[in-house]
Amino acid sequence: MTDTELVKAAQEMLKYAYAPYSKFLVGAALLGRDGRVFTGCNVENASYGATNCAERTAVYKAVSEGCREFLAIAIVSSSGKYTYPCGICRQVLSEFAPGITVILYDDEKGILTAELEELFPDSFGGSDMT
Ligand code: THU
Repeated sequence: MTDTELVKAAQEMLKYAYAPYSKFLVGAALLGRDGRVFTGCNVENASYGATNCAERTAVYKAVSEGCREFLAIAIVSSSGKYTYPCGICRQVLSEFAPGITVILYDDEKGILTAELEELFPDSFGGSDMT
């Protein structure tokens, strides 16, 4: 699975995004260490706090199907610009995959990759509670 293929899988999810309030569509595609790809979109709610981001949709789909180790996640949005994961999604990604590669896409500039470690340094995790 190449970065480009993962971006394409994320773009496919834009059509499923449920974002009647923000009108900001987001798609994600998460590559598991076992080779499986889990996709997700944002799912908004009239009670705004119940909204789920595309990245977390993908992570929760994966974990609920027995995949907990991840190599990369591609994120795209209807803005056509690089869309970085929000703080909550960075925290959720770090729970399972602190070393994950984040793949972003801009319609004009193409693919940009970043490591979660650089986007979310000095994070809080389970080992901090022991
Ligand atoms: N959103 C995501 O799906 N992922 C992010 O990382 C940023 C924000 C969604 C949540 C909400 O539906 C909309 O974008 C506007 O915040």
